[in-house]
Amino acid sequence: MVKDQAEQLRLELSGLRQRPAPRTIAVTSGKGGVGKSNFSLNFSLSLSKRGFRVLLLDMDIGMGNIDILLGQSSPLTLTDWLSTRLPMSELVKSGPERLSYIAGGTGAAQWRTLDTSGIDYFLTELQAVASRYDYLIFDMGAGASGERLYFLKSVDDVFVVTTPEPTAMTDAYAMIKYIHAAGGEAPFSVIVNRAGNDREGYEVFGRLKHVAGRFLNKEIALLGIIPEDRTVARAVVSQTPFVLLDPVAKASRAVRQIAFRYAPGRDEEPGRASRFFARLRQLLLER
Ligand SMILES: Nc1ncnc2c1ncn2[C@@H]1O[C@H](COP(=O)(O)OP(=O)(O)OP(=O)(O)O)[C@@H](O)[C@H]1O
Ligand SMILES: [Mg+2]
Repeated sequence: MVKDQAEQLRLELSGLRQRPAPRTIAVTSGKGGVGKSNFSLNFSLSLSKRGFRVLLLDMDIGMGNIDILLGQSSPLTLTDWLSTRLPMSELVKSGPERLSYIAGGTGAAQWRTLDTSGIDYFLTELQAVASRYDYLIFDMGAGASGERLYFLKSVDDVFVVTTPEPTAMTDAYAMIKYIHAAGGEAPFSVIVNRAGNDREGYEVFGRLKHVAGRFLNKEIALLGIIPEDRTVARAVVSQTPFVLLDPVAKASRAVRQIAFRYAPGRDEEPGRASRFFARLRQLLLER
């Protein structure tokens, strides 16, 4: 019996050591207000509900709102971390469905003030926190200014959210072009949000795919289509994520399906190694 327990402990410890780095995903858009934060939160919840360990990071530093969408208040945010350098583990909050998240906070962004030792400290802290998760999901806010680009160039997957509006589509393409031209190598996956119907969603994606292929010689994939659904606005007002407020709403089903397609099963997760931290460190230090 004692021997069994020792064996079990040994296996668990070796499992811990072999645990792969978390998969990193950046959720971005060209135009603001297209649904990134709602998607990031509800996608994260759909994964965590299925047993994946997910850390959602609100990188819209200075204009963070993940905590507001959750109806929770976060006394400590990434904005605070940048000025106080508290242990990053103190920033991690528990949301519903065993989701962990770090709020972005409001106030002036301070990335520029990080010197070499600050960058190393930030990455060491983030890496220590990250090692407990299967997925790190960054809600990047709109655009790719400043340090945002470094995150977008370091992650394993870039999700680009657009709506069918021509302005949103044009900006989504501009964003893909910008990251691509800056040397970003992660695959792009598109989410067409607020689609009137599936056909419109496929059309929007088809046009983006066409221009990306023709002018950038870059393949992009369709991650999914989320319909226009009044449940989303209702969820924002009631500060309850829509997958929880109404799990059978059209938007909830669509996001769950996207999460399922992206990560088919807890057991099947292949544990792909991520070079996220090495890449981000290099980019931040090269500034
Ligand atoms: N599928 C949808 N159906 C209906 N309304 C939606 C949908 N998705 C988003 N919205 C509306 O769009 C608003 C903006 O969404 P959200 O805050 O997630 O956008 P964002 O891209 O994160 O914005 P920002 O660029 O400011 O960070 C929501 O409050 C909601 O009213
Ligand atoms: Mg947002």
